[in-house]
Amino acid sequence: MNDQASRLIEKAERKAQDNKIHIHNDPYRLAYHLMPPVGLLNDPNGCIQYNRLYHVFFQWNPFATAHGSKYWGHYTSPDLINWQLERSAIAPDQPYDRHGCYSGSAIEHEGKMYIFYTGNVKQADGNRQTSQCLAVSEDGIHFEKLGPVIQQPEGFTAHFRDPKVWKEADRWLMVIGAQDKDENGCVAMYSSHNLYEWDYQGIVTGSNYNGNDNLGYMLECPDLFELDDETVLVVCPQGLEPKGLTQQNLFQAGYVTGRLDGSKLDHGPFTELDRGFDFYAPQTMIDEQGRRLLIAWMGMTDEREQLQPTIEYGWVHAMTIPRELELRDGKILQHPVAEMRQLRRNPVKPRRLELNNEPQLLESLNSHAMEIMIDQLDVEESESFSMAIADDALISFDTVEKVLTLKRKNLAAKGKMESRSCRIQALNKMQIYLDTSSIEMFVNDGKEVFTARIFPDLDNRELRFSSKGPVSFRLQKWDLY
Ligand code: FRU
Repeated sequence: MNDQASRLIEKAERKAQDNKIHIHNDPYRLAYHLMPPVGLLNDPNGCIQYNRLYHVFFQWNPFATAHGSKYWGHYTSPDLINWQLERSAIAPDQPYDRHGCYSGSAIEHEGKMYIFYTGNVKQADGNRQTSQCLAVSEDGIHFEKLGPVIQQPEGFTAHFRDPKVWKEADRWLMVIGAQDKDENGCVAMYSSHNLYEWDYQGIVTGSNYNGNDNLGYMLECPDLFELDDETVLVVCPQGLEPKGLTQQNLFQAGYVTGRLDGSKLDHGPFTELDRGFDFYAPQTMIDEQGRRLLIAWMGMTDEREQLQPTIEYGWVHAMTIPRELELRDGKILQHPVAEMRQLRRNPVKPRRLELNNEPQLLESLNSHAMEIMIDQLDVEESESFSMAIADDALISFDTVEKVLTLKRKNLAAKGKMESRSCRIQALNKMQIYLDTSSIEMFVNDGKEVFTARIFPDLDNRELRFSSKGPVSFRLQKWDLY
């Protein structure tokens, strides 16, 4: 590592150290989610299990709660539950990455960890220059940069980033999020036999490619993998319009499934992975048990991120909990990883609740971090069913319209709520992970997921159930820590 790199990394560590107490005092610091030690966190990068340890790197601006010249921050864990913050892996110290070591991925080869990331440079005239860069590590902690391996090719704008690499038979493949010269969002594929020399293979998919309609003006953070014999492309389109109840956030995160023919993916329609407010740039990894795990940024680049109350404490954003993916009938299901059960404390015995127009209040919830399981739900004869978490979040199911809705306080309009909804056939089960300032709700065994940051009054977290008509269900609850 060169002097400039060490200096930048030490400067970031100092910033974290100097702000430790102030940040620790924030009541919205999360109990079991990954957060930046200071500053802004966005995409998960380089997710890999390497020498047993899980590694999750993250886009990190240590010096402000705004986007800027990103580092790769770094967490490791033996079990997806106990995480350790490591020194940051790479900093923007080179001419080719001086305005940010942008998102990318990690692979293992001959015992070493290789990371691919995008070197971002803003030129004096305001234009951007990007290259895909390589760094290597012998221990998964200290990295040596090897420089750019792919320069920006003809036919694309400088919105060319976020390399995801994997091995297929005897070669390496890479997908890159891109925009072509006509401003169509697309995904480019490269291949290599040695990790250093990469050949362009073609476009995987994109707006106006493969007979597709509009997939937006830019596709960020592509991730291509096999799941149950199908090829899945997870990707984040920018520039999609809201469609019915879907695509309500500024940018989307979702997937298509299909078959690869060379570099071209013939696929079905784009489906969002999440129905909530804060879910972006997901990245997957396959672990030693063969599970396809996903972790996402529990945030979004939009006008709201600067309104988050954690900013006055010098930090912003977090990751989702790790989830295991399953493909069933062409649809991705997300399950909280089984390890999450290790966090369960103080179980409240399963009890059956029957509602019939009279609201039921559950004792004030003494914990800020908990898991609530509602199953064996019977809402058939009712018109609606809802659950309020204090005054901060409201989950409701319209049995007639078959629409499930999550409402939260709107940070941009005091006193108002905002909502996200999705249509489901029936409501059978809700597994809800609450942390001091987040909610992740897995509906019907992960067929739909709602992820959102919420900033509740932490003194009052009572649960209020209401219904129009008869509703019954089984309730279980655990504190999580
Ligand atoms: C997605 C993204 C990536 C980019 C990174 C920069 O949130 O815009 O495309 O590499 O963030 O931090």
